[in-house]
Amino acid sequence: MGLVSSPITFVAVGALLSYLIFSRVQLYLNRRSFIKQHGCEPCPKRYNKEPIIGYDVLKETIANFNERKMLERNQKRYRDMGVNTFLTKIQFRPMIATCEPENVKAVLSKNFKDYSLGNRNHSFGPLLGDGIFNSDGEKWANSRHLLRPNFARDQIADLEAFDRHFRLMMKKIPKDGSIVDLQHLFFQMTIDSATEFLFNHSTDSLRMSEDDVNNEDAIFARAFMFAQEDIIHRDRWGFLNFLRPNKEGKDAIKICHTYVDKFVDQAIREHQAEMAAGKADNERYIFIKELVKQTQDKERIRNELMNILLAGRDTTASLLSNMFFQLALRPDIWAKLREEVAPLEGRLPTYEELKNMKYLKWCMNESLRLHPVVPSNSRFAIKDTVLPIGGGPSGTAPLFVPKGTVVSYSPYAMHRREDLYGPDAAEFKPERWETLRPGWEYLPFNGGPRICLGQQYALTEAGFVTVRLLQAFSKIESRDPKGGVWEESLTLTLCSANGCQVSLTPA
Ligand code: HEM
Ligand SMILES: *[C@@H]1O[C@H](CO)[C@@H](O)[C@H](O)[C@H]1NC(C)=O
Ligand SMILES: *[C@@H]1O[C@H](CO)[C@@H](O)[C@H](O)[C@H]1NC(C)=O
Ligand SMILES: *[C@@H]1O[C@H](CO)[C@@H](O)[C@H](O)[C@H]1NC(C)=O
Repeated sequence: MGLVSSPITFVAVGALLSYLIFSRVQLYLNRRSFIKQHGCEPCPKRYNKEPIIGYDVLKETIANFNERKMLERNQKRYRDMGVNTFLTKIQFRPMIATCEPENVKAVLSKNFKDYSLGNRNHSFGPLLGDGIFNSDGEKWANSRHLLRPNFARDQIADLEAFDRHFRLMMKKIPKDGSIVDLQHLFFQMTIDSATEFLFNHSTDSLRMSEDDVNNEDAIFARAFMFAQEDIIHRDRWGFLNFLRPNKEGKDAIKICHTYVDKFVDQAIREHQAEMAAGKADNERYIFIKELVKQTQDKERIRNELMNILLAGRDTTASLLSNMFFQLALRPDIWAKLREEVAPLEGRLPTYEELKNMKYLKWCMNESLRLHPVVPSNSRFAIKDTVLPIGGGPSGTAPLFVPKGTVVSYSPYAMHRREDLYGPDAAEFKPERWETLRPGWEYLPFNGGPRICLGQQYALTEAGFVTVRLLQAFSKIESRDPKGGVWEESLTLTLCSANGCQVSLTPA
């Protein structure tokens, strides 16, 4: 009978078992006192009925996604249950869903250190590597420290660069009132301007004709788009992703990396030549060059650039197209905006002038409220922690968050709460910003230590493009195939499923 019955095995198994029991008991006791100390009470609402993997929620979520009603139905879950925080499941894991400003503040700011990004790197890692958008802890702090200085006002306010790309976009807008999809053009314009800003080389997709599909920049732009879609598939497949045949996705990532590496190499060469020549650097500001001054780790620079391009491109384009979708339905708002830009008499605004355009700002704020381009997000508890609200029968007591819980928060649902924004919360109404001074209940750019680095860049670019379009066109009319009923397209960001189809009348 050998080992199994030997007294040594017996003792060893006994010791292991008692250790396991002891540590479970200790965890239980520790948690009990933690819960008591923080006054936590259980969450009264659970959304999934099937308790183990939450198959019912998964099935419903997939259907919602396919019907393009993911966000609307998610908001409805809160309404139907009459709470702003509830328990559910996501891929076997316990999840807390919330649209409570105080809870969001706890996750992103007050208890920032209790959370990580969770398994974001599983889906984003192959394209982004370890960069700012994709890392946690020390690594993230280093990235943030490296990149932050590059987002100072002087660097992001290159309005002339924006105008060059804008003028190329103008050429693609018909002047005879025929239908154009602005969303498509906005996506081209933002990749052109972001690549110029980041790589010192623009993809110039707006300069291309239809037969330019095989030039290097066009190939990169397509590969980058493909690689982004691939992130979503990797996320859906989760730990089963290795079963997914995906040569095209891997090739796309390779193309993206090779493309950026070339510019990193060039910047390093140039920097080294300048150092050797002892030449002081007094040229214009170049993002990639600033990074090269700090580190010559090529992979690191490439990763950071890729991270920023991903964070900054679709988001800004989505803001523009979501906003223009609404503007095209509202001649009164268009007229008011045109009044605001009239004093410029057709010339470019300065940075200051742009920042002082109140009504324009209200429109951007309102678009980001109604259609936040990052409409939901989540964090992963890396230790036992607490949310301030959501426990107890009335949902007002603190709520215990065990280590390993996903806390998902929804700016979309939060931005549409009638108790926070009034009974007209679902309407596009820029005027509400005359008096609105929201705190954590308004969160298009995130908050706390990981607040969006590109907020000013995005608002400057979007504001600038809007001003230029207002100057060029006296009238905009929606030609939306669904009669102006906005439908969601939810990928990494949120834009309109039917694009932004309009007809424009030159001024
Ligand atoms: C309307 C446009 C934009 C919106 C709504 C937006 C929103 C956001 C949000 C919600 C996050 C937090 C993501 C998370 O932590 O899970 C974020 C992070 C970030 N954004 Fe933006 N963003 C926009 C444009 C930009 C632009 C133009 C850039 C750069 C040129 C940029 C660079 C970044 C970076 C680097 C981060 C990561 C910050 C960190 O983790 O420390 N964003 N953004
Ligand atoms: C993130 O993913 C990439 C590629 O999949 C990998 O090289 C990297 O080590 C990962 N980073 C962390 C912190 O796990
Ligand atoms: C930036 O681009 C310009 C124009 O293509 C080029 O002359 C210059 O060498 C580039 N600088 C760096 C640092 O890559
Ligand atoms: C608009 O939104 C920004 C942040 O996105 C905020 O700082 C500002 O206070 C909001 N309100 C107005 C009226 O600009």
